[in-house]
Amino acid sequence: MTSEKLQQARDFEQQYMHYANKERPVFHVTGAIGWVNDPNGFSVYKNEYHLFFQYHPYKTVWGPMHWGHVKTKDFIKWEYLPCAIAPDTDADPDGCFSGSAVEMPDGRQLLMYTGVYHIRRVDGIIDEIQHQCIAIGNGVDYEKYEGNPVLDASDLPQGASNLDFRDPKIWYDAEEKCYYAVVGNRPADGSGSVLLYRSEDAYKWQFITILDACYNEYGKMWECPDFFNLDGKSAILVSPQEMTPLGLEFHAGYGVIALVGDYDKKNHKFDRQHVQSIDYGIDFYAPQTLETPDGRRIMIAWMQNWTTTNCQVQGIRIFGSMTLPRELNIREDGRLIQNPVRELANYHGRKVFYENLVISRECNLNGVKGRVLDMTVHVCPSGDTVYNCFKLNLAKDGEHCTVIRYKPDSSTVRIDRTRCGGRFDIVHVRDFLVTPKNGEIKLRVIMDRFSVELFVNDGEQAATFRLYAPETADSISFESDGQVVLDVEKYELNI
Ligand code: FRU
Repeated sequence: MTSEKLQQARDFEQQYMHYANKERPVFHVTGAIGWVNDPNGFSVYKNEYHLFFQYHPYKTVWGPMHWGHVKTKDFIKWEYLPCAIAPDTDADPDGCFSGSAVEMPDGRQLLMYTGVYHIRRVDGIIDEIQHQCIAIGNGVDYEKYEGNPVLDASDLPQGASNLDFRDPKIWYDAEEKCYYAVVGNRPADGSGSVLLYRSEDAYKWQFITILDACYNEYGKMWECPDFFNLDGKSAILVSPQEMTPLGLEFHAGYGVIALVGDYDKKNHKFDRQHVQSIDYGIDFYAPQTLETPDGRRIMIAWMQNWTTTNCQVQGIRIFGSMTLPRELNIREDGRLIQNPVRELANYHGRKVFYENLVISRECNLNGVKGRVLDMTVHVCPSGDTVYNCFKLNLAKDGEHCTVIRYKPDSSTVRIDRTRCGGRFDIVHVRDFLVTPKNGEIKLRVIMDRFSVELFVNDGEQAATFRLYAPETADSISFESDGQVVLDVEKYELNI
């Protein structure tokens, strides 16, 4: 049965979504209308990829959380489906927070999410209680289970809190014919942990173990956990709140980290061996992954950051979008590698290619400009000449310029969007370490109107950020202090 609240949201998006059409990126997911945050329920269902997301259709600010819904066959072209769930039951009156989805063995689609309700304590403070709920449906309409929640305070290990108990990521284990889920939690030490649960039927769950915990080392509360095996290793992804900075690897605030190691499935023991940031840019949070039928692990994230949510462009009807889905791999040394989904190449349009181009100052290249593109720049030293830095200037006009700079002496890349058209007092610059090979570096840049996704050296590092310059700022220049040799391969995207 469609509740009044859900119907209201569906009617609202039907009536108003077309007003946002001119504001949308071309191939990145946004809400039909209004606000979005975390990707939810990124999964395969009946041979299509479904994506849900935290959604408040009525405004461009966070509010009572619904789940918006889109699907795709190739990660590039998306189709809007009606709002999937609304906060409309006794188990979730104050929000349907983040969660995940899975195809059940009987062909139905199961959503698992955090239901939220508020209670006033004796001292007058309002507590937000979080517990896990399920809803089952056919890929469009979902029925919430009357017995919700399926996981609550009584399922927590000692010292864990039900005020921070959220974001279940569910998967089906075909071997054991059962479900597993990881859920984010705040244990007694005030930081974060990842709890592992198991269920035969998705209704009755059993606590298995604390899969990994923060111990106040990597931020505080760990939001939006994910857990998967890949390339012979296992990885936990989490989005910690309140990180403290560490060198150029971790910045302060909302971070996104990968914990890579080995998993002994029989004893449910995760042996963490490697920790890294997942994205070194500014606008990247709460990633979630799925496994494709051909065995690829694909990650999508919110292309925004909680500290930039007041960066509202006046008169705009949508706020927040997702990243381009990315293919993940884990190298032998434990490093998580990410590259744009290969399906993007199916949309490559006109190609412009320059080879062995020697530059030593700023120059433009014929045919290289735009704000919707896929471009790879290979920068090599010219003979024994030492160069000071190389800059790729994007979204440029007389007033605006967004810079990606590589400095060989420090092996750092800097993204600098100080002059990207934003009128906000927020982080504009980030530096991160890269690993040049024989003094060479490869920069792949994906632009979609108001965003840049940078992949360095075939995905060893990624850096994602939004920009705000008008689309007429579409010039691109190549700039070098000292002599370099460039290969530039640029594609228009016909989507
Ligand atoms: C992460 C998050 C989740 C929560 C959701 C609420 O961005 O805080 O932990 O479920 O957003 O919208």
